[in-house]
Amino acid sequence: MTKNTIIKYFINKIKNMKIIPSALAFFCLTFSCLNVIAQDTYTLLEGKTAQERLDIQNEFNRGILIKAFTEVSSIINIEGMTVVDFGCGTSSAYPDIRSLIGPSGKYIGIDNSEKQIEFNKARFKDVNYIIGDEKEKTVQEVLASADIIYIRFVVMHQKNPKDFLQMIYSIAKPGAFIIIQEPESDEEKKKFTAAKYPFAIELCDFKTLIGKKRGLDYNFASQIKPYIKTLRPKKLIHNTEYTELPMPQAKAFLTKTFNEIHAKDPSVLSEELLARYINILSNLPEGENDKWRLDLMHTIIVQKS
Ligand SMILES: C[S@@+](CC[C@H](N)C(=O)[O-])C[C@H]1O[C@@H](n2cnc3c(N)ncnc32)[C@H](O)[C@@H]1O
Repeated sequence: MTKNTIIKYFINKIKNMKIIPSALAFFCLTFSCLNVIAQDTYTLLEGKTAQERLDIQNEFNRGILIKAFTEVSSIINIEGMTVVDFGCGTSSAYPDIRSLIGPSGKYIGIDNSEKQIEFNKARFKDVNYIIGDEKEKTVQEVLASADIIYIRFVVMHQKNPKDFLQMIYSIAKPGAFIIIQEPESDEEKKKFTAAKYPFAIELCDFKTLIGKKRGLDYNFASQIKPYIKTLRPKKLIHNTEYTELPMPQAKAFLTKTFNEIHAKDPSVLSEELLARYINILSNLPEGENDKWRLDLMHTIIVQKS
């Protein structure tokens, strides 16, 4: 029997069975719906578990947050302004933003995770928080009132980053600033790691791999500027900088990240892969000059025309 005859035989068998094809169709439909839902959920854990990881992450990104707001303050006086932290997570950016806009400024945190917001309300009692996403009216009203919309590590989690950015831009009021800070795993970072820690090169691609499994492009950062340009903003500033961490800090952050991804969805990061990643991390040396290059961070400052 040739391969084609075998295939034809099975096709005819299926054609003659009425129940199996409909069961198959039902199964495929259910599976694809589940897949779409899975893509819409955030990759990592929320609440208390997320706080420690996001606080570490904030610590090594504080410098570029302050730089971006300082850049805006060279154009307008940001003291007393309203800042909306969109996709605020556990609000770890809040203390720095508060000190930049002063006591008369207003900080509003928005996140579509109810768990995250409930956690934040207990953490920062004087802050105004809203649960929801950019498609909701209340959220849109708050976004439209902002002088500065701050978006960090949020675009990478969108299924349609261009639609997301277009929507935020269209909601912002004329003259408002949108500060976007997103990471990218680029080739230079890989070369840096390959030269210093060749056995750990696999870790450079973990985000790309996880993004792919979730149907997301975690390396969208370098496409943000060319895309925003098409929206014809009044001002568009783009800066990049590598985050290089002392090894103990990098290990703590990556260990938490890997464990959270695995705990949220083992089909995205399996037990076996988790063990392999942790093993690679444990072999990284911790000498004074040992640094881990985490990401190329993109800062895009947009002023709406
Ligand atoms: C990686 S965390 C970043 C948190 C925070 N921006 C920071 O830098 O620490 C991403 C957060 O964005 C939220 N998020 C993702 N997409 C969102 C959307 N479309 N609307 C509102 N929140 C969103 C998630 O729930 C999560 O808390």
